[in-house]
Amino acid sequence: MMLPVENVLTADELANIRKLVDGAEWEAGRETAGAQAALLKNNEQLRHESEAMRAIRQIVLGALDRHPVFFSATLPKRVFSPRVNRYQGDSNHFGAHVDNAIRFAPHTGLRVRTDISCTLFLADPASYDGGELIMHEPGGARAVKLKAGDAIIYPGTTVHEVAPVTRGSRLACFMWIESMVRDSGQRRMLYELDRTIVALRNEHGDNSHSVALTGTYHNLLRMWADT
Ligand code: NI
Repeated sequence: MMLPVENVLTADELANIRKLVDGAEWEAGRETAGAQAALLKNNEQLRHESEAMRAIRQIVLGALDRHPVFFSATLPKRVFSPRVNRYQGDSNHFGAHVDNAIRFAPHTGLRVRTDISCTLFLADPASYDGGELIMHEPGGARAVKLKAGDAIIYPGTTVHEVAPVTRGSRLACFMWIESMVRDSGQRRMLYELDRTIVALRNEHGDNSHSVALTGTYHNLLRMWADT
């Protein structure tokens, strides 16, 4: 399921992140790509071990944690540490590729299955040309470019690319999510059920039926989730 997640970051958080990015250390993005993707990846990445990146990670993980739509749509078990990348000048694109299925956390050796990919846009879309995230789906390609502070989540199985940036600078944060619910069909059903329950509650308040439906949601989650 491809889904935009709006207003992940507050204006303050966005301003903080931009301040942290200014003057931070950058390295070639291909360091973290798989063998096939490395040949196509031409961008820059904020140094993973830097103070700036640590601070940004904390802000982003906190923001995702409190976002009801992000939680409901991904049912996160682990979020594989957010990174920040930049596309500009000669380092301006990432050709069509698939992300590795498994990522290794460098220090803990923890393995994370990349069920869901997430891009959090950090630059004002009017400040750069190109740089769309293009997802190749059976029905055709979809290009996405969101306002700063909004994110897009999409299945880790998707072939995707970042179109060349021809003006300005595209700044974004990206990460992967291993979901408690591995099957994307089950995850989608849970998401739709949750959103429907929330809408019914908003319209009619709580009653015995909404309580029963909520029970069904949790019983399905209990049946399918792996914590
Ligand atoms: Ni990718």
